[in-house]
Amino acid sequence: MIEIKDLHKSYSTGNNSLHVLKGINFSVKEGELVSIMGSSGSGKSTLLNILGMLDEADQGSYTLDGVPIKNLNEKLAAQYRNKFLGFIFQSFNLINYKNAIDNVALPLYYQKVGRKERDERAMHYLEKVGLADWQIICLISYLVVRNNV
Ligand SMILES: Nc1ncnc2c1ncn2[C@@H]1O[C@H](COP(=O)(O)OP(=O)(O)O)[C@@H](O)[C@H]1O
Ligand SMILES: [Mg+2]
Repeated sequence: MIEIKDLHKSYSTGNNSLHVLKGINFSVKEGELVSIMGSSGSGKSTLLNILGMLDEADQGSYTLDGVPIKNLNEKLAAQYRNKFLGFIFQSFNLINYKNAIDNVALPLYYQKVGRKERDERAMHYLEKVGLADWQIICLISYLVVRNNV
């Protein structure tokens, strides 16, 4: 599902360059549960940003479901993100002028699921958790599309 080969990433700030990812290799199969651990500043977010196609590596390859993730345009990247990836951000990233159902159903809208089915699927999961907590709603907006990653 995910294949990372010899991944490198540096940040340049002014004249300095900070080499954060120094040749990373790993793969994750579909359904596998993996956690990334490391001290603060070790590059976890850097790696996750690349995996989530929010940023690109300088060197090495990233293959997602057999597709090389390289130089994708915004539209294609957004399509793959919607199809394969779910994010639970620390800062929630929910849309505050939308209600709970609409937030949960939004990824389904982008998957062109019809309004009725969107609402039914969103409601189904919201009822399961008792509609309560915003963090839970954020998690559910990921579960409802039954993402692979
Ligand atoms: N956009 C950026 N520009 C410059 N340096 C950055 C940037 N993002 C992260 N860094 C630096 O890269 C290193 C790794 O950061 P990060 O991936 O956020 O680590 P972690 O998530 O493991 O705490 C840190 O030293 C951080 O200061
Ligand atoms: Mg981090």
